Amino acid sequence: MIKYVIEGGRPLRGEVTVSGAKNAAVALIPATLLVKGVCRLENIPKISDVTLLLSVLRRMGAVIQTVNSHTYDIDCTNVDSCSVPFASRIRASYYLAGALLGRFGRGEVPLPGGCDLGERPIDQHLKGFRAMGADVTIANGNIIADGHGRLRGAGIYLDVVSVGATINIMLAAALAEGMTVIDNAAKEPHIVDVANFLNSMGANITGAGTDVIKIRGVDKLHGGSYTIIPDQIEAGTYLAAVGAAGGKILVRNVIPKHLDSIVAKLEEAGLEIRDFDDSIQIERTSRLRSIHIKTMPYPGFPTDMVPQLAALLCVADGTSYINEGIWSNRFRFADEYARLGAHIQVNGKTAVIEGIPELSGATMKACDLRAGAGMILAGLATKDITEIEDVHHIERGYEDIVEKMRALGANIRRVVVPDKTDLRVVI
Ligand code: EPU
Repeated sequence: MIKYVIEGGRPLRGEVTVSGAKNAAVALIPATLLVKGVCRLENIPKISDVTLLLSVLRRMGAVIQTVNSHTYDIDCTNVDSCSVPFASRIRASYYLAGALLGRFGRGEVPLPGGCDLGERPIDQHLKGFRAMGADVTIANGNIIADGHGRLRGAGIYLDVVSVGATINIMLAAALAEGMTVIDNAAKEPHIVDVANFLNSMGANITGAGTDVIKIRGVDKLHGGSYTIIPDQIEAGTYLAAVGAAGGKILVRNVIPKHLDSIVAKLEEAGLEIRDFDDSIQIERTSRLRSIHIKTMPYPGFPTDMVPQLAALLCVADGTSYINEGIWSNRFRFADEYARLGAHIQVNGKTAVIEGIPELSGATMKACDLRAGAGMILAGLATKDITEIEDVHHIERGYEDIVEKMRALGANIRRVVVPDKTDLRVVI
């Protein structure tokens, strides 16, 4: 078992560089299936979701060369299988369905896994595939989609704003015959990143970043180079860490525009923030104030920042309210934070956090990726020792989080515990 051990109470100082965006990378890697030729992907984050997807593509026949630790040449020219060997441990396995349908007109993919954030339907993805002419069934834990040859472009209105459905339909439509129009599309930065990637390989996609995306199918995509955008949520997590631990840091390699809603809320809570071209400086000079948050699709406040903000609000002055509009299980962290003495009451979609002056150390279990990140922040806010178990959730999506936090002065260690009697410090 691996766990993190944190000794809190140290303000953060220095600089941290943000990695490539997880939620863009997990879409772009499957997207390379659409390309005949070599795709050089730069700024790929070193996280376990990426490792898993690369191994899936390799098993399907892709030739993948490591150029350096964050750059891969991926060549899917010789992939000839339209079924996926294994991938269900990650949510983004569903992008393989859109990519295979686009490339071969057929795909068989395990149903997605990922964080347990409550019910995670994929009806809008399937509705899109069906509108483009595919027969879709779910059998033996797999999505089986058969387009009977090349898909046909279609008009698709999404009943809910869905990141995954928007990207999956773009993937399926890039090589379809004719025009696909997605109405009520999601607008997250990684949607734009996927469209930019596909366009740089020869696709014809307009409107990404607005709620109407038009994809005119092309006959073929060619190889090329593409650099993944920085991770908006990783950046937000380090900004929020200063709210929890105190101090002053510079977060490098960010697109400040992508962080507008997060920065607005951190400022409201009393943090002092300065934007530069591709970095953001943040400082905590006094105890934070309570705030109210409502999560929404981009450009609203992201659900994936709720546990991190909640961590700092546990020690802010006053009562904060968080209204969660996306996931029914978003607040699973609340019971874990309660072990540190936090006062959080969850009523359906709302968490009420009554700030207290100090948290105390305890052991918590990371229950999902962002909750795990929030637990690190909560640990930094105590003056005690906090332990976090089940950190594999965190390592799915945060590159080198222990090393990055340590470089900022946090006292956090990654510890391998083979059994109860042999405790070995790794970092
Ligand atoms: N929804 C449907 N039907 C669908 C698809 C979605 O009803 O077919 C609903 C969902 O139940 C949810 C809402 O629509 O209430 C939004 O879901 P969306 O499809 O946008 O989420 P996702 O694509 O499954 C991505 C991120 C999540 C992030 C959400 C919301 C990836 C791989 N995952 O999930 O990221 O929380 O968008 O922004 O991009 C994370 O990174 O920790 C994470 C969970």
